[in-house]
Amino acid sequence: MKPLQCNLTQSLRLQLRDGESRIFIQPGALQNTQHLDSWTNDRDVFILCDETVARLYLDPFLERLHSRRQIIHLIPPGETSKTIEQYERITWNLVKQHFGRDMLLIGLGGGVVGDLGGFVAATYHRGVDYLLCPTTLIAQTDASVGGKTAVNLPGGKNLVGAFHHPLLVYIDPLVLRTLPPRELHAGLAEVIKYGVALDPENFEWLEGHLDGLLGFDALDLQDAIRMALTLKIAVVEADPEERLGQRAILNLGHTFGHAIETASDYRVLHGEAVAIGILMAADLSSRLGWLDTTARDRIQSLLERAHLKLTLPSLRTEDLLPYFDRDKKNRKGHLKLVLLEALGKAVLAERFDMTHMIDMLNDWPQSDWSMH
Ligand code: NAD
Ligand code: GLY
Repeated sequence: MKPLQCNLTQSLRLQLRDGESRIFIQPGALQNTQHLDSWTNDRDVFILCDETVARLYLDPFLERLHSRRQIIHLIPPGETSKTIEQYERITWNLVKQHFGRDMLLIGLGGGVVGDLGGFVAATYHRGVDYLLCPTTLIAQTDASVGGKTAVNLPGGKNLVGAFHHPLLVYIDPLVLRTLPPRELHAGLAEVIKYGVALDPENFEWLEGHLDGLLGFDALDLQDAIRMALTLKIAVVEADPEERLGQRAILNLGHTFGHAIETASDYRVLHGEAVAIGILMAADLSSRLGWLDTTARDRIQSLLERAHLKLTLPSLRTEDLLPYFDRDKKNRKGHLKLVLLEALGKAVLAERFDMTHMIDMLNDWPQSDWSMH
C-alpha cells in the first residue's frame, strides 16, 4: 500500500445538551492510537470487532492500546450479525467478565459493529461509555456519528434501538483501501445522499471528485468524510432525537432502502438499497412535479458513476409495502417520506398522492442480482 504523505488531523465536534462527541479524522490514525490513551488508560476496555476487520487491523491496534484490561469479542461480518442473539452473547460476555459501569466499549469495524456495539453500550448497566473506530465508508460518513444505535428484528431494520453517543469517533481514511469495491460503492451512496438532501455544492463537489473517491484517493476521501460529517452534525445538533422532522431528512432513500434491504434478505447491501431508494425518492418527486427532471437525471448519473446498480432484484410492490408500515418516521398511521423540492433540498412529506408512489414502484425496472 502506498504510504500517504499527509498526517493532517481534522477534528470536529458534535455538541449535545449534556456533553459532546469528538471526531478525529486522520490518515494513519489506527497506527497511532496514543490519541486514545486519555480515554483508555486505567479502564477495562471491551473491544467489539468483526472477524474480517480483526484479521486486517486488530493486532496492530491492540499493540498500541493502553488500558487496565482488554477483552476482545468477535462477531461474524455483515448485517446478519445485527441481531438480538448477538446482543445477548455480547452482554452475557460482559457479565461473565465482570465489566463494571466504568468500562469502555470500543467498536472497531463497520456500521454493524457500530450499531450493535452502540446498542450494547446504551443498555449495559443502563449505559456505559463507548468510542468508535469506523472502518467502512458508511460508518465513517454516517453510522458512527449521531448516536443512533440498533439491532434488526425479523420484521424490519433497526426496530430496537436507542440514542447513545460515542465519546469519540476515531477515523482513519486509509483503512478504506482494503474495502472490497462493492462496499466502497455502497458507501458512496450514503455520501451522495448528503449532497442530494442538503447541499447542491457538495453534490457538485462529488461530481468533480468521484473518480478520486473511486480510486481510494486519501485526500479526496478525507475531504468527503469531513464534508459529510459537517453536514450531518449540523442536522443532528438541530434535532438530536429526530423529534422535529429535521433529522428525518437524513433518511432520504431509507424508507424504500430499508424495505428493499430487508425484503431481499440482505442480498442487497444497505448502501446499495439506499442508492435505489434515493433515486426512487427523486423519481417520485419528479412525478409529483416537485423536482425538475434534469435534477433527477443528474442524481441518477452520479449514482451510476459510483457503480451503483439501480434496478430492483425480483421484488414486487406487495413485497415492499408491509415494511413501509413499520417505518419510524410514520405518525398516526400515516406514511411520511423524505422527498425532494430541489437538488439539495429534501423535505419530510406527508401529503402526497400515494397512487404516484404505487405507479413508480410498479414501473421500476428489475434485473438479476444473483451475480452481485
Ligand atoms: P458492515 O459493518 O457489515 O461492513 C461491511 C463489510 O465490510 C463487512 O463484511 C466488514 O467485515 C467489511 N469491512 C469493514 N471494514 C473493512 C475494511 N477496512 N477493509 C475490508 N473490509 C472491511 O456494514 P456497513 O456498510 O459499514 O454498515 C451498514 C450498517 O450501518 C447497516 O446496518 C446500517 O443500518 C447501519 N447504518 C447506521 C447508521 C446510523 O446512523 N447508526 C447510518 C448508516 C448506516
Ligand atoms: N443515518 C441517519 C441518521 O443518523 O439520522
